[in-house]
Amino acid sequence: MALKGLVTLEQFIVDQQALYKNATGAFSKMFRALELGAKMVNRDVRKAGLVDILGDMGSMNVQGEYQKKLDVVADTTFIEVLSRCGEVCAVISEEQDHAIFIEGCENKEYYVAIDPLDGSSNIDVNASIGTIFSIYRRKDSNYSPKTEDCLQRGSEQVAAGYFLYGTSTMLIYTTGNGVNGFTLDDTLQEFCLSHENIRIPEGGAIFSLNEGNTSDFPEGVRQYITWCKEKDKATGRPYAARYIGSLIADVHRNLLRGGIFIYPGTEKKPNGKLRLIYECNTMAFIVEQAGGMAHSGRERILDILPTDLHQRSPLFIGSADMVNHALEYLNRYS
Ligand code: AHG
Ligand code: MN
Ligand code: MN
Repeated sequence: MALKGLVTLEQFIVDQQALYKNATGAFSKMFRALELGAKMVNRDVRKAGLVDILGDMGSMNVQGEYQKKLDVVADTTFIEVLSRCGEVCAVISEEQDHAIFIEGCENKEYYVAIDPLDGSSNIDVNASIGTIFSIYRRKDSNYSPKTEDCLQRGSEQVAAGYFLYGTSTMLIYTTGNGVNGFTLDDTLQEFCLSHENIRIPEGGAIFSLNEGNTSDFPEGVRQYITWCKEKDKATGRPYAARYIGSLIADVHRNLLRGGIFIYPGTEKKPNGKLRLIYECNTMAFIVEQAGGMAHSGRERILDILPTDLHQRSPLFIGSADMVNHALEYLNRYS
């Protein structure tokens, strides 16, 4: 196959940066680090069945979840590459209780939030998993960073993206100027532009949620699912149920095909399961930039001011028409 017209991630970032007069190059350094981290994790994921890297670590993270070996490998890898790139003052990770402040980078203006490996329960069964990241700029970089500096609204994100280790490996990201997708060419080991200016369909015919939890869902969500499953020619129902159990993979499919992903709060867990800073916000920024919507049921995800690094939020995300419709149900029955 001819390589005519091939645009690598590196080239794409250089071209984008040329559009900004005051670009310092910090951004491309951070992206190079993230890209390297993803290639390393991708390598580990691809050979996971062959080496002793599957299974439980035997430890728990701060959220009380059992860590998989690959969770820890991915966490260590991304923290290391981000520490070494010299542009990041702090890293927030799902797998770390506290923010990690990077020595020698106290005056750097960016911090990065990561879910090093999303979809842990899919690791051992060779289903799609990924890495989620968000880049934020500190309000004031004249002093050593503190945890409070890392608690900004999602609307303050400078960039957000995810690497998907699926049948092929992809990077989807936004800097607030649309969403672009890159696919890793295994032979070149380069991410190449494959999905330019992604737009999520306004409507869709897929609903994604863990239906096993139905009895705990708010009445509005239960009624909305019932509506999705009813037969109606005019609206193309019943809709298809699709749930992989990896936020990244579920949202990625809906981003390309149209659909809604829901992880609601319940009476026992009013904030649901997903983490605001490195799951909900990242996906919300991407989906909004693609023309979709992301809401907690109470407010726009990107407007929530976090008070804790690991706080959770209910999530309704996807095609705008579908999210609005689900929210109508939620309000009607609450
Ligand atoms: P993680 O593997 O980073 O802990 O995230 C798992 C999350 C998310 O990827 C997915 O959408 C959700 O857990 C699935 O939860 P259920 O198993 O409760 O459906
Ligand atoms: Mn996750
Ligand atoms: Mn994770």
